[in-house]
Amino acid sequence: MRFLVSALTMLVFLLSVPAANAAPIKIKFSHVVAVNTPKGQMADKFKALVEERLAGKVVVEVFPNAQLFGDNKVLEALALGDVQLAAPSLSKFQKYTKSLQIFDLPFLFNDISAVDKFMATDAGKKLLHATEKKGLLGLGFLHNGMKQLSASSPLTVPEDAAGMKFRIMTSDVLAAQFQAVKASPQKKPFSEVFTLLQTKAIDGQENTWSNIFSKKFFEVQEHITHSDHGYLGYMVVTSTEFWSGLPDDIRGEVQKALAEAIAFGNQVANEKAVGDKKAIMDSGRSKIIELSADQRGQWVDAMKPVWKKFEGDIGKDLIDAALAANK
Ligand code: SIN
Repeated sequence: MRFLVSALTMLVFLLSVPAANAAPIKIKFSHVVAVNTPKGQMADKFKALVEERLAGKVVVEVFPNAQLFGDNKVLEALALGDVQLAAPSLSKFQKYTKSLQIFDLPFLFNDISAVDKFMATDAGKKLLHATEKKGLLGLGFLHNGMKQLSASSPLTVPEDAAGMKFRIMTSDVLAAQFQAVKASPQKKPFSEVFTLLQTKAIDGQENTWSNIFSKKFFEVQEHITHSDHGYLGYMVVTSTEFWSGLPDDIRGEVQKALAEAIAFGNQVANEKAVGDKKAIMDSGRSKIIELSADQRGQWVDAMKPVWKKFEGDIGKDLIDAALAANK
């Protein structure tokens, strides 16, 4: 009997050796923005939480500033298993789903708390699954902030944008938004924007205070219009294959760490919307234009017809659900 117990103990020990010595699961997280941004800070927080709680079992490598993949390649890289996490802006999913285009509609959300409210509804939460059939699963939404317009000449009323070239993300809604004010939209990767502005290959772009500051666009754009005309946020995304292959306990811990990292990133986003705008103002490099109610109303009137154009793709019910969040 004693022999049997010892043999069993030895067997259990031997079986546990490979598991204990197994190489940790590697999560490569690729993104395009600077470290000191809501997404950069969220990614670093995620790494810290995961490596503290799953020490020896999971390691996270974060690649900021498009070091590994630019925004046009990262979703393909996820599908191929070359990275395991990414957080592209919601505007960059057009090839995978039309529903996320809702976030690009100009002047749809009054502010970030309306976006939060919408994301918490059933309709909002369902959007995390919009790309699932294509092998990509949304694990959470993260804010950056409301977008502003920057340009080489002042933009006060929509007519000021006519004929100007604006860099946009790869979204037909954003293209239509600039066509609505008779401007010329140019779809270009984020990593090229500074040089395009500096060399005057384009006249302007739209982005959040945080991206305008961290990527130094304000140093090469003389004017920034505080328009809050659109929303910039992200879907943290993984491949369905990687996610379903994780052991249940690890998947649960990773999801929990991600939720906490996103909450932290959203807090950073709120702070940067104020702090980075102030830093740009204090630099004196760009002149910030505050619109009167009448001027802002003119931009709304010019751009809002874009909603109707994309209503069929996005769905009227979804647009109505988003609008309800403004109340
Ligand atoms: C990002 O915030 O990830 C990039 C946004 C952009 O492409 O303008």
